Amino acid sequence: MSNTNPLQGRTLAAAADLSVDEQRYLYLKTRELKEAWASGGDLTPFRIRDPELNVYLMFLEDSTRTKESFRNAAKFHDVKLNVFDASSSSFKKSESLVDTVKMLFGYGRRSIFIMRTQMEGVCRALEEQLGEYADRIGRERPVFINAGDGRHEHPTQEYLDEFTFLEKQGWDDSHIHVALIGDLNHGRTVHSKADGLKAFRSVTVDLVAPEELALPASYRSRMAENGFEIREWTSIEEYIDSGEISDCWYFTRLQLERMGDEVRERESELRRAVTFRQRWLDRLPQNTRFFHPLPRHREKPVIPSFLDGTPLNGWDGQSINGYFTRVIELAMVAGKLGSDFNGVGFIPESKERSFITEVPITRKSRVEDRFKVGIKPVDDGTVIDHIAKGCAPEMIWDRIYRIRRILKLNVRGSHGVFHSTDSQVYKGIMSLPDILEISPTELKKLAAVSPECTVNLIKDRSVLAKYRLAMPPKIYNFDEISCKNPECVTWPGAFQNVPPHFYRTVSETFTCRYCGKRHEYGDIWDL
Ligand code: NCD
Repeated sequence: MSNTNPLQGRTLAAAADLSVDEQRYLYLKTRELKEAWASGGDLTPFRIRDPELNVYLMFLEDSTRTKESFRNAAKFHDVKLNVFDASSSSFKKSESLVDTVKMLFGYGRRSIFIMRTQMEGVCRALEEQLGEYADRIGRERPVFINAGDGRHEHPTQEYLDEFTFLEKQGWDDSHIHVALIGDLNHGRTVHSKADGLKAFRSVTVDLVAPEELALPASYRSRMAENGFEIREWTSIEEYIDSGEISDCWYFTRLQLERMGDEVRERESELRRAVTFRQRWLDRLPQNTRFFHPLPRHREKPVIPSFLDGTPLNGWDGQSINGYFTRVIELAMVAGKLGSDFNGVGFIPESKERSFITEVPITRKSRVEDRFKVGIKPVDDGTVIDHIAKGCAPEMIWDRIYRIRRILKLNVRGSHGVFHSTDSQVYKGIMSLPDILEISPTELKKLAAVSPECTVNLIKDRSVLAKYRLAMPPKIYNFDEISCKNPECVTWPGAFQNVPPHFYRTVSETFTCRYCGKRHEYGDIWDL
């Protein structure tokens, strides 16, 4: 099948895997489907009808709504539906997930895997590993849909939530003012909102959670980078008293299973802070709706059950929307819908911007003038200069040793920490008489290990070439880096050999490609 459909074959591992326009397309098609369904109209334009398409439900964590809505959506499509039972498979005997998926992939001409796992980043890792495998054996790449991975993301819940918000607003996407209430720390449906709310052109988000349940800093930064106005309170009571409250409340349950003992001990106090009380009813703006991804706690729900029969109840309709949005998501990734999409598509990861600049040598600078400070000048060789310039001396020493170790510079030479010539800040210099050339790959490696340094190649006491190395947009392919999230798929032993991979985010932070955890530059290094 020729692929002129940009949505076909797409993996949905995180909410941002669909561009904003692609998400809007999903909402438009869902609206059309819902209307056709309600009026008894023709549903065939939405139906995949491919008996050779295998849809696998692989839920390695419990689920009711997500699993059942996907099961029903797959049945709507007349495709081969398979439910993989993790509890009675060799998965229990520590079989590798990659081996299992590979085998299931072999059973159909085309495959969609819908996966829920505790481990974070699994869909992205499988997309890569199975994608390579499919290319190797000349088969269509399988699709992976993340149905919730640990504390990371839950993109399809996100799409149904946004669809529900738009429906509430009569499809007006100019602005949303939404309150996110409850366990914002562990709730993956909330984390996906950092990108999903971009379906609205302007966003005000009120975060209502006690400190222990607060939204992790990385998602808050992402919201800020996406231009959201963010306001914060530590309890509903405080929020109500503030007076400026939203009419769209999104509650989440306390995810006790993901909390440490210390937080769990304070459960009732935390629960109280985010549970709605009857006495606040008359303080809500007109047309307020409450939403919740569900499940609610049987005895102590944050939205008490006396509200079930009131107009505040938006959550029942929300959960039904899970079915319709998932019917459309399957139709999109299977290529049934999408050929009429004409918005701005998903832009794959930026190609590596150049971060190595060759600096022109204007005059043949004499080496003695430039590198005489405290270290032995080289007549021929390499001088790495400006190492960790401006940092504290102990950090510069660490950086020098890191360069030597990682670039395997176990050769003759001298190095040290000195005052920079142009100011009173410190910098490191390494002088390496045995290194007479340096490859582009080594320069890239060096840029990752010691960004902002310069490399001078010296011949006959003159600088022959000089490179300035900036911070690279991605850091990967090093044994010495690791993601510091123990639930990440890259964690040693967690999965089948997924090497760590980071991309640069604002303020020189590095985000894990798989689980989305943000790190300070220095924290990705193990040395
Ligand atoms: C959510 C989930 O699993 O992340 N539920 C859902 O998918 N409907 C929220 C939750 O578990 O609280």
